[in-house]
Amino acid sequence: MFELNHALLGRSLLNIRSLSDSELAYMVDLAMALKARKRAGIRGDLLRRMNIALIFEKSSTRTRNSAAIAVRDEGGHAEFLTGHDTHFGVKESVADSARVLGRLFDGILFRGYRQSTVETLAKLSGVPVWNGLTDESHPTQFLADMMTMREAFGEVRGRTMAYVGDGRNNVANSLMMGCAKAGINFVNVTPAALFPSETLVAEARAIAVRNGCEIRVETDPVQGVKGANVLYTDVWVSMGEEDKKAERLALLRPYQINMKLCEATGNLGKDLIFLHCLPAFHDNQTDVSRETGALEVTDDVFESDFSRVFDEAENRMHTIKALYVSALCREAGF
Ligand code: CP
Ligand code: NVA
Repeated sequence: MFELNHALLGRSLLNIRSLSDSELAYMVDLAMALKARKRAGIRGDLLRRMNIALIFEKSSTRTRNSAAIAVRDEGGHAEFLTGHDTHFGVKESVADSARVLGRLFDGILFRGYRQSTVETLAKLSGVPVWNGLTDESHPTQFLADMMTMREAFGEVRGRTMAYVGDGRNNVANSLMMGCAKAGINFVNVTPAALFPSETLVAEARAIAVRNGCEIRVETDPVQGVKGANVLYTDVWVSMGEEDKKAERLALLRPYQINMKLCEATGNLGKDLIFLHCLPAFHDNQTDVSRETGALEVTDDVFESDFSRVFDEAENRMHTIKALYVSALCREAGF
């Protein structure tokens, strides 16, 4: 029987800081148990009659569908609210919408621009709020990344991740904080113009010290990936930053993940996996990559046997389900 941690009842996930080191590990344990439960064909009622609001200001494939299926698998319902269909943040303030939605729903998952929006929702709605990506952070993504590493390596503590690309985006920020909490060495490999905030690096380093791991920022790709067990990248231009496209492509072309860079880890064919939060530009199958020719990862790496990107995408659902269950359910009963 899986023991639920009642300290997590009613809790929000606004960024990785919302969870202690042990709660982060526990959340992945719970997600793994829920994955096994689903694999065994069980659709239960852990979230029976629960209603979750999904507020999306930005596009999504994985987060939106994971957030909907996670509650439906366990007997609840998700209501999808886009910026255009509701008054949220347009005709009605976030603060007023938060108080209305909190009276109707058991929880809210938000994806959008400002971190302050997700914080206001959590402060005023009175229900758990989960951050499904803001400009600053993408904490639910880190849970799936950590779960995928656990599946690949067993223990993640002491492993090394090199994130190569836009070093100051939402995914990079959450990876840095999450790795520090999980005892994973983290190297942010990025040009100086895209360095992460010094405050965030200092905070992650302080956490890393207690967990016996290291947080580094490197500009040289070959030096930066040496010894990595996980190579991770993300798009070079995040949602909402489309006007920075030309500048980003010029800065990041030398930071493409290709087989040569995989070889530079020294772990290719032995102890290396490739992760990407997706969506990815890895071939010329999309309008954007055809137009710019800019690929953050080559197709041979993306399609390789050490690429775990589709396990990672599936794990978005199991980890979001773990967040719902831990915050809304008293008895696991499985
Ligand atoms: N990784 C991720 O958040 O994907 P979506 O943008 O499709 O939700
Ligand atoms: N950094 C990317 C992540 C997409 C999941 C973005 O914000 O667009």
